[in-house]
Amino acid sequence: PQVEPFVMVIFGATGDLARRKLFPALYGLFRDKKLHERFAVIGIGRRPITMDEFRDTVRKAIDEHSRLEREEAGWADFVARFYYQPLNVKDVSAYAQLGGLMERLENEWNLPGNRFFYLAMAPDLFGTVSTNLKASGLTETTGWKRLIIEKPFGEDYESAKALNDQIRQTFAEEEIYRIDHYLGKEMIQNIEVIRFANSLFEPLWNNRYIDNIQITASETVGVEERAAYYDKAGALRDMVQNHILQMIMMVAMEPPSRLVPEAIHAEKVKVLRSLRRLTKDEVNQYMVRGQYQAGVLDGRPVPGYREEENVDPHSLTETFVAGELYVDNFRWSGVPFYIRTGKRMAQKSTEIVIQFKEMPKNLYFNKNGDLGPNLLVISINPVEGLHFVLNAKKPGADNDVVPIAMAFCNDRGGSPEAYERLIGDAIKGDMTFFTHWDEVSLAWKFIDPIRRAWDQQDESTLHPYRAGTWGPDAAHQLLSRRGARWWPSR
Ligand code: BG6
Repeated sequence: PQVEPFVMVIFGATGDLARRKLFPALYGLFRDKKLHERFAVIGIGRRPITMDEFRDTVRKAIDEHSRLEREEAGWADFVARFYYQPLNVKDVSAYAQLGGLMERLENEWNLPGNRFFYLAMAPDLFGTVSTNLKASGLTETTGWKRLIIEKPFGEDYESAKALNDQIRQTFAEEEIYRIDHYLGKEMIQNIEVIRFANSLFEPLWNNRYIDNIQITASETVGVEERAAYYDKAGALRDMVQNHILQMIMMVAMEPPSRLVPEAIHAEKVKVLRSLRRLTKDEVNQYMVRGQYQAGVLDGRPVPGYREEENVDPHSLTETFVAGELYVDNFRWSGVPFYIRTGKRMAQKSTEIVIQFKEMPKNLYFNKNGDLGPNLLVISINPVEGLHFVLNAKKPGADNDVVPIAMAFCNDRGGSPEAYERLIGDAIKGDMTFFTHWDEVSLAWKFIDPIRRAWDQQDESTLHPYRAGTWGPDAAHQLLSRRGARWWPSR
């Protein structure tokens, strides 16, 4: 698809997300010539700053956060497209001014009325802003209109549905770009290519040859300055409802009939439909929740979760989740999908490990008298790559078998960040790597029973783990009871 001229209105333009991700993404796209030469950006914030102050913020954001060194040549051309409009977003009568500015810029820059509304702000305002956009006539335009929003999209199915219904009064499903930044990551986009462009994998990609699948998204950071949000959300809503389930969909989906967003979404949704829902009584058998306690990370002591600023000292919020999930369909019946994610773990690592089944009979053995399984490891972050663990004879030895790795590592560096890809896609109108409402709603329907069960439980099922470790023992027992283990990150 072609890139077209547009105006982008960024609500929350003085906030963190805009500074750290959006301005650098736009700059990267601009430098790589992926934007139409005619475009304009309007920053919206509560504070009455001037246009020049706003342009200064943009410059600083790019100096600090862009993957590219800022170049003086061309800078004036870039920043001249940034305007600022203070706005109380709850006051519908204030939107007329924004409308006036949009029209003026559309004239000045000769834009066809293609309008982007990026809500980089507190999610409890998503509904209000979209309602007010419609009420003030800003979404009646001669070109297209598109909305970009971020998670959290609701806090359970009911609230997500109410929010979606409200937004849908203004925007059609094809106009809503729900960002899950994991879908913008290079190696997550690569999963389908690896699966469907190699005749080697597809015949083995099922319960006949795969023993289990492990998905890890571990972080070393703690709750940071986000306690107000995080202490209410917890790891289940923060990471599992979106990123982890997206990774499961990418690994487990059937090949789409064509590479078009509708066909891909349809296959992804089928995975969620097949994902086994847990009853209240099953939750503790298949899911583990944990909370970090004081520990040591990178040689320095760090506090426990309950000692963090703005966290309730009696908080029962989970900062770690592990689970054993099942996709109950023909391809995956019986194959456990083990997941784990947490804050303050030993290492920052996002990785998917496919563990293949053992040989029907072992003729060869390693030093310990067994034979390690074949593994396909997809490294997503911070390493981007792929490696395959095979068994081979140890050179020179008589009969000793050792694991060898065939590895591909993308050390090209400087590849566009997730936001840059996703915003670039949204500008082209390509919805492939955005979350459809069906995915959001089914994801919540899977999460809600787990959440409800945990909310009724006391501290005895909240497993403590020391900061700087791989989580509570219970997360290891999930696997060891089936004779499996978590494979260490490379
Ligand atoms: C966000 C979560 O969606 O993803 C954060 O809200 C988390 O809590 C982050 O830190 C992790 O993203 P990444 O790209 O660093 O793995």
